[in-house]
Amino acid sequence: MDNQKKLFQLDQGVHYLNCAYMSPLLKSVEEAGIKGMQGKRNPFTIKTNDFFETAEITKKNIGLLINANPENIALIPSASYGLASAVTNLPLNNGTKAIVIENEFPSGYDTIKKWCDNHNKTFTIVAEPISNAKGRDWNANIIEAIDKNTAVVMLSSVHWMDGTKFNLEAIGQKCHENDVVFMVDGTQSVGAARIDIKSYYIDVLVCAAYKWLLGPYSIGFGYYSDRFASGIPLEEAWVNRTNAEDFTKLTQYSQDYKTGSHRYNVGEFGNFILLPMFNAAVEQLLKWGVENIEDYCQKISEPLIAFLEKSNYTIEKKQYRSKHLFGVSLPVSINLNDLLTALENNKIYVSVRGKSIRVSIHLFTTSEDINALQAVLEQYNINS
Ligand SMILES: Cc1ncc(COP(=O)(O)O)c(C=O)c1O
Repeated sequence: MDNQKKLFQLDQGVHYLNCAYMSPLLKSVEEAGIKGMQGKRNPFTIKTNDFFETAEITKKNIGLLINANPENIALIPSASYGLASAVTNLPLNNGTKAIVIENEFPSGYDTIKKWCDNHNKTFTIVAEPISNAKGRDWNANIIEAIDKNTAVVMLSSVHWMDGTKFNLEAIGQKCHENDVVFMVDGTQSVGAARIDIKSYYIDVLVCAAYKWLLGPYSIGFGYYSDRFASGIPLEEAWVNRTNAEDFTKLTQYSQDYKTGSHRYNVGEFGNFILLPMFNAAVEQLLKWGVENIEDYCQKISEPLIAFLEKSNYTIEKKQYRSKHLFGVSLPVSINLNDLLTALENNKIYVSVRGKSIRVSIHLFTTSEDINALQAVLEQYNINS
């Protein structure tokens, strides 16, 4: 696949290597948002089915992306919201401990911590290993920690700080064997790396849209397996009741939520601006194909990775390193602030997470972007 920068609204002359912070805007997504905004000029053009139809289309498209039935998908405003719906409906008689990983993103970490505090469960943190095979050892320790006493495992699909890959297939298999609810936050990989709900035995997958799904802020999706199909949602949104589509009968107060995960939709999920933007982004991802995005990210970063592997910097080994998102740890001899100033002076945008810089790339990333970063890193490598 060729570079697709032309499809994005991104200033020329900048090297944006920070999709893990926030993706730039696709032109098609911007157009969908403007159209949505303009719709409100003449509210009579917004029909009853507009409250529901785009949502159904978007869920179908998300289902294609993650190999899930649209019936299991809800539209949510944030990962934290989607996780809250899940823990509200966790069984309380199925295990005494919950497992998270060290340095998990706060939306997941705090949700599980609170559930443990409220229900007298043991909050178990699998530590980040100090090892030169961190990804391998961390995965092994997570798998070892899962047992018959485990109620839930919650982790991000890849580590948000440095892209360390978690072996969702093996972790999901162990959860399945031990009847453990497996909850995944896919915000830092879904859209840019393959995921398969069914073969990984994932019970809950939440995902904010504004990074690798290339969508706007304040929208995302939650997947909930059938074991959540009769749960209680966080709020009593009228749009999630079985009679919602008939505006003349709303005060006949349906006692029933819509089937499956539709009950977990956030109120006003039919957002006429954000939702068409989200759908346009997912449609583009499907058109490209996630495996092609992965391949492109691998190819474009090859020279940089080759340099890093023989430099004083440290990166994760290939098997546990995400193609779209990786951390570069600095040797102690390099002053982080000096390096950041040099990057900024060259209009190179990355993030700092912990003691590493986080590089995150996509189809808008060019060889020039990669070369610009490499040139600065090389300069500091020589001086270190
Ligand atoms: C792994 C991960 N999950 C979730 C989020 C966003 O969380 P929320 O949607 O709850 O604001 C981020 C943002 O950086 C993240 O890295």
